[in-house]
Amino acid sequence: MRYPLRTRILHWLSAVLVFSTLLIGFAMVNSIGSYATLIAIHMTLGLTILVIAVARVANRFTHRTPPLPDTVGRLEHRMMIGSEVSMYALLLAQPIIGWAMVSAAGSPVVVFGALRLPGIAPFDADAYSLLRQLHSVLAYALVVVIAAHVSAVILHTVTLRDGMASRMTIGRAATRTKE
Ligand code: HEM
Repeated sequence: MRYPLRTRILHWLSAVLVFSTLLIGFAMVNSIGSYATLIAIHMTLGLTILVIAVARVANRFTHRTPPLPDTVGRLEHRMMIGSEVSMYALLLAQPIIGWAMVSAAGSPVVVFGALRLPGIAPFDADAYSLLRQLHSVLAYALVVVIAAHVSAVILHTVTLRDGMASRMTIGRAATRTKE
């Protein structure tokens, strides 16, 4: 059994967007490419992630999760819940912190090249400095949580061969589940 199609689409859409936003974020602060272009894309992707994360949280309450393979013990199940909650929290917090940080710097937040969003924090150098550091810490936290999530799915699917990945894939696949 799998997650509903809308959940799988939202999952893969956020996966692609988060990967790209992280990559662009690290590239722009390391002066790889045109900073102005990269920050414009980064802000647009980041705020799109926020919209999708809100939709995902709302969607999460509309259905039960498909049964887990019988290779997942009680402790691992708890860890999976913890990792899922952390990922949702990070995907909601990181874009809001980015938005507040740019507002605190007194710079405009423009998405899709034209739509100027209102500032959500007052112009303040100390607040900017704090939010800037927090944005980096959460970016690294996201990398760690995503790496753990992907490693666990690979371990289950490739080593234990329990069809874990097929709960979220779009194509055809079989799953072994416990009752
Ligand atoms: C999930 C969404 C987001 C992710 C994963 C993300 C990730 C990152 C990363 C990895 C960096 C580089 C951090 C470092 O190496 O110190 C960065 C920097 C930055 N991000 Fe984001 N970001 C997101 C959303 C946003 C949003 C919504 C905005 C603004 C509206 C934003 C504005 C910035 C700015 C201004 C910088 C710093 C640029 C600099 O100091 O030169 N980010 N972000």
